[in-house]
Amino acid sequence: MNKTLMIMKPDAVKRQDFAYILSRVKSAGFTVRQMRMLQLSDEKAKAFYEVHSERPFYNDLVKFMTSGPVVVVWLERENAVDAFRELIGATNPADAAVGTIRNDIAESLEANSTHGSDSDENAEKELNFFFG
Ligand code: CMP
Repeated sequence: MNKTLMIMKPDAVKRQDFAYILSRVKSAGFTVRQMRMLQLSDEKAKAFYEVHSERPFYNDLVKFMTSGPVVVVWLERENAVDAFRELIGATNPADAAVGTIRNDIAESLEANSTHGSDSDENAEKELNFFFG
């Protein structure tokens, strides 16, 4: 069994899209191991997205991710990282395949509703970041 971190981002939380997202996650065969709603501090959002700190969108990304609560979810499934990224679709919803979560509900590249870990190594780090 493999694991990955999902974040339901502030736009998804504002729209109260929990039931839609979790039902897609369940249908795709994932098991929820832990889940928590929290408000990211500026410091914590900066640390989580540290890898993007040199990118021009970093400050806006941090501002968006702290604009309201998020839900962090520990998911398990075989091949969890790739399977979850397939389920959510491309980072930019304009490029996300029809039927993916981002194609269905995301608003923009920034307000793209969900985050998924991009490798097993990062899944481990990101789950540790939120769940210890
Ligand atoms: P996420 O998978 O959470 O990882 C970093 C986030 O930065 C990404 O989703 C996007 O929501 C956001 N972002 C904003 N602008 C860009 C950009 N130009 N390229 C990539 N990601 C971006």
